[in-house]
Amino acid sequence: MTHPLLIALDGPVSAGKSSLADAVARRFGILHLDTGAMYRAIGLAALRQGIDPADEQAVSGLLAADRVQVDVRFVDGHQQTLLDGQPVDDQLRSQQVGSAASTVSRYGPVRRYLVARQQAIARQQSMIIDGRDIGTVVLPDARAKVFLTASPEVRARRRYEQIRATDAAATYEDVLKELIARDKQDRERPLDPLRQAEDAVLLDTTALDFNQSVDAIVRIVEAAYGQR
Ligand code: DC
Repeated sequence: MTHPLLIALDGPVSAGKSSLADAVARRFGILHLDTGAMYRAIGLAALRQGIDPADEQAVSGLLAADRVQVDVRFVDGHQQTLLDGQPVDDQLRSQQVGSAASTVSRYGPVRRYLVARQQAIARQQSMIIDGRDIGTVVLPDARAKVFLTASPEVRARRRYEQIRATDAAATYEDVLKELIARDKQDRERPLDPLRQAEDAVLLDTTALDFNQSVDAIVRIVEAAYGQR
C-alpha cells in the first residue's frame, strides 16, 4: 500500500504557488488545498458584516461568537470554499478581499481557527497544500516540503502581466512596490510568519518556466516519497 502523499508548498506573493500546486496535484492525481482562499473568506466575512478588517477585536469576536464558518469541500477534484455554507470562490479574488485577508491573517484567533481546519482536512487524504506556514505550522511532519521563491522583479512581472488584462491603469512599478510591501508584512508578522522550514527544499524559479518548475517540484516529491 502506498502512503498518503502530503506536500507542503510555501512561498511569497506571486511565486506561482497556486497554479504550480494545481499542476502538481494533477500529476499525482491528488487534491490541492489553497489555504489563502480560507483567509480570504474570513476577510470577505468581515467586509460583508460591515467590520473593519483592522479592528482585531471585532474580527476575533466574529469567530468567538460562531458568527462565521469557513469550510472547504472538493467537487470533481476542485476546491470549493464555503462561507457559512455557501460557495464564495468567485468573490475572493478582488484586491479589496486580498487586502482584508492579509490584515485578518495576523490575528491569533483567525490563525488558530483556520490551521485546525486545514489540519483536519489534510488528515483525510493525499494533497498538496499551499500557503505561507504549511511546512512550519500546519504540516510540520509532511515529508515533502517546498519553499518557492523567485526574484521580486520576476514575480512582479508575472503579476503585472496577469492584472494588466483587467486593469489598464496598473503599472509595473506600482505592482513591484506593492509586492515588496506584502513580502515584508508576511515575513515580519509575529504569528506564523512566512519562513522556510528547516527541512524544506528551496526552489528558486527565477530562471525556470512553468513546466520546468512543475518538474522540479515533482522531483522533490519523488525524492521524499519515492517514484509514484
Ligand atoms: O495566497 P493568498 O494571496 O490567497 O493569501 C491571502 C492572504 O492570506 C495573504 O495575505 C497571506 C494570508 N495567508 C496566510 O497568512 N497563511 C496562509 N497559509 C495562507 C495565506
